[in-house]
Amino acid sequence: MKKILISPSILAGDFSQLGKDIQKLEDAGADMIHVDVMDGHFVPNITIGPPVIKSLRKYTDLPFDVHLMISPVHKYIEDFSKAGSDIITIHPEATENLKDSIDLIKSLGKKVGLSLNPDTPIDKIEKYLDQIDLVLVMTVYPGFGGQKFISKVLKKIKNLKNIKDENKFRFDIEVDGGVNFENNKLAIEAGANILVSGTTIFKNNNGDIKKNINLLRT
Ligand code: DX5
Ligand code: ZN
Repeated sequence: MKKILISPSILAGDFSQLGKDIQKLEDAGADMIHVDVMDGHFVPNITIGPPVIKSLRKYTDLPFDVHLMISPVHKYIEDFSKAGSDIITIHPEATENLKDSIDLIKSLGKKVGLSLNPDTPIDKIEKYLDQIDLVLVMTVYPGFGGQKFISKVLKKIKNLKNIKDENKFRFDIEVDGGVNFENNKLAIEAGANILVSGTTIFKNNNGDIKKNINLLRT
């Protein structure tokens, strides 16, 4: 059984002191940092871009798990790579040529992730599963933190895990959106080995980040 990794989303952090938040997350045992990039076009919200990621890079050596909710995405991949991203995850709907975008991320020496929105079927990315590092399964419609986990997506996670096991693929299964202390077990049982969480980690138990990360991992 693969170790469950926790990737806290700084979308739920304090944008006036993200560097400090990142240090707190590292001290609390986070395995990576989930950075939600939104452009107000692919999703109806706007967050941060490469300059902010560049300035945050010095606060931790943990991997930056960068979730690009932007389109068109291809022409910005190199900027996010140079800014210090370690995993670059894109949505298949956001690029004209998914194979070119995957190849570009790999040519930059970064791990490549593909993200599936709740209504996006696995077959949208199935032919690339043998060449990627991560599938980010959205359990909310992207754009905002603090939303409710969409339980119907658990079936998709199970199907994805079956495909992974049957073909001996190596990609990680990351679940993102509305993860809490109840549904985390369902996501893990379904096949996830990386959990993203913003609200539950930053807000629960009076903001005891270390306790919340450990509770999510179990
Ligand atoms: C939503 C983002 C998620 C979100 C997770 O578009 O991709 O990463 O920030 O936050 P919570 O855990 O609060 O749903
Ligand atoms: Zn995300």
